[in-house]
Amino acid sequence: MPSTTTLSKPATTTERAAHFSQRAPFTSTVGKATMGSTVTAPQTPAQQPDHPLPESGLKTDSSADASMVVLDRISKLYRQGSCGLKDVSLTLPRGGFLFVTGPSGSGKTTLLKLLYGAERPSEGSITVNEQEIHGLKGDRLSRFRRQLGVVFQDYKLIPNRTVSENVAFALWAQGCKQADVARRLAPTLRLVGLQHKADCFPTQLSGGEQQRVSLARAIVGTPPLILADEPTGNLDPANSQQVIRILNKLNKMGATVVVTTHDLHLVKQSKHPVIQLKEGQLSWLRR
Ligand SMILES: Nc1ncnc2c1ncn2[C@@H]1O[C@H](COP(=O)(O)OP(=O)(O)OP(=O)(O)O)[C@@H](O)[C@H]1O
Ligand SMILES: [Mg+2]
Repeated sequence: MPSTTTLSKPATTTERAAHFSQRAPFTSTVGKATMGSTVTAPQTPAQQPDHPLPESGLKTDSSADASMVVLDRISKLYRQGSCGLKDVSLTLPRGGFLFVTGPSGSGKTTLLKLLYGAERPSEGSITVNEQEIHGLKGDRLSRFRRQLGVVFQDYKLIPNRTVSENVAFALWAQGCKQADVARRLAPTLRLVGLQHKADCFPTQLSGGEQQRVSLARAIVGTPPLILADEPTGNLDPANSQQVIRILNKLNKMGATVVVTTHDLHLVKQSKHPVIQLKEGQLSWLRR
């Protein structure tokens, strides 16, 4: 980021509320050998040079449960009657990396929304990072979301804020000092290849660039759980590889990662576990 960049802190709680990332205690234990125990980097060379992330906020807490996510017989029926998910059970260990595939309308976004508390299940229970999230609302829900980095399918960038500010908001929301914000911002923007766009507004960016801002915002606080909804949906193959490579890197640092994608080619290039959703029902493509 150029040294001339000025950052304006978010003025409203509404703006702050859009940003979830926060460093939080993390356990590196991998509880189930079936998921996330093997980490394989993508085969294609990265488009961007490798830049170090700022010192990780991921910490080992050996007393924590081995599971990061537990979905127990979750169903989601939307008010209009459409089915989001049907009787889905899933356990994701800390440090796991899971791909979620499936056709359009099969329930991928619904699954992630349930995990970050934007939707509530019609049936079943959800535990994330040892918290039963069903009853969370208000401040408790906001605090819970600070443990997550979310890449939204529709980006959700703040239009009247620059790239730097959009990414920095994630850190301001958790009360980071300005020096810490500056320390984390530049390497994260370099990591997603957007250091030269730091002072641009979202409308001045391509769809793929906006998608990478959304990724930068999700990872800048090195959260223990990253939920990425089609993070490569608008990217060319080289940039898609780079995004998966970045998520692999965060995963190797200890983050648990869930990625939805239509791109079976990307999925095949890794050895991570893969589930498929079809009309809301889950099956394993690779464990
Ligand atoms: N807010 C909502 N109200 C009513 N129905 C919804 C809502 N959100 C999703 N649905 C329905 O739930 C089903 C699953 O939608 P979801 O967005 O989870 O699919 P998806 O797999 O993410 O699709 P895509 O690949 O197109 O993003 C679809 O039938 C959709 O129409
Ligand atoms: Mg979706």
